[in-house]
Amino acid sequence: MKLVFIGDVFGKPGRIALLKEIDNLKQNYQPDFIVMNAENLADGKGLTEKTARPLFEAGIDAMTGGNHLWDRAESLDYIRKNPRIIKPMNYPSTTPGSFFHTLVRDGFRLTIINLCGQVYMPACDSPFSALENRYQDLQSLSDAIVLDFHAESTAEKRAMGWYADGKISAVLGTHTHIQTADEEILPGGTAYITDVGMTGSHDSVIGVKKDLIVEKFRTSIPVRYEASDRGLQINAVCLEIDQGYGRAISISRIKYSTEI
Ligand SMILES: [Fe+2]
Ligand SMILES: [Fe+2]
Repeated sequence: MKLVFIGDVFGKPGRIALLKEIDNLKQNYQPDFIVMNAENLADGKGLTEKTARPLFEAGIDAMTGGNHLWDRAESLDYIRKNPRIIKPMNYPSTTPGSFFHTLVRDGFRLTIINLCGQVYMPACDSPFSALENRYQDLQSLSDAIVLDFHAESTAEKRAMGWYADGKISAVLGTHTHIQTADEEILPGGTAYITDVGMTGSHDSVIGVKKDLIVEKFRTSIPVRYEASDRGLQINAVCLEIDQGYGRAISISRIKYSTEI
């Protein structure tokens, strides 16, 4: 079973780049499922029906979230009604979004989950306890589980990798928008990468026009963020999972430039 997981798709440039490349990704990697992190889909802040729908129609099977998922007040109802939009499992039950979503192909059940880290992040419950509390239920309805761990701290992500090793098929880090070169299969059979990276402008500061962010740091005066459209990249991973045991067979990084 093959999954392509796409790192934080940032704003319109990221959406257009992915829509342009999605057929190439399907052709080159032959995935059974494509999942993406969508917390930055609408101008970097949250998602809307208008920004998410074309990607679902193009073949995205599910979207994971993060701290920005609910930034657009007008789309809370859309998130609430769409079971394929997955929120961090360690957020309140009243927060819009699914706690998990299970994708099925030829009887194989792949459950996608999302957790947020606690270090240098908005307040949320322990991601470790959340996984521990729900693990048995998730396991009983899945042949494999893949986690998007949306967190800032490398140490917290690495610790999650070791905690989840042998329990789930993959721990894929998101949130920092910079792809790390540390992909590996841990001894228990769990694929791990600290950060999948960002799909969008890399001639930027994590997706935003770089001059604005330099000015913000130089002066400490808040600025209005605008998505940059220069230096576009697709950042993702391709994961292969053993259908019998749910162990990861391989994880490979995808990172290349594209133009729109
Ligand atoms: Fe993000
Ligand atoms: Fe984030």
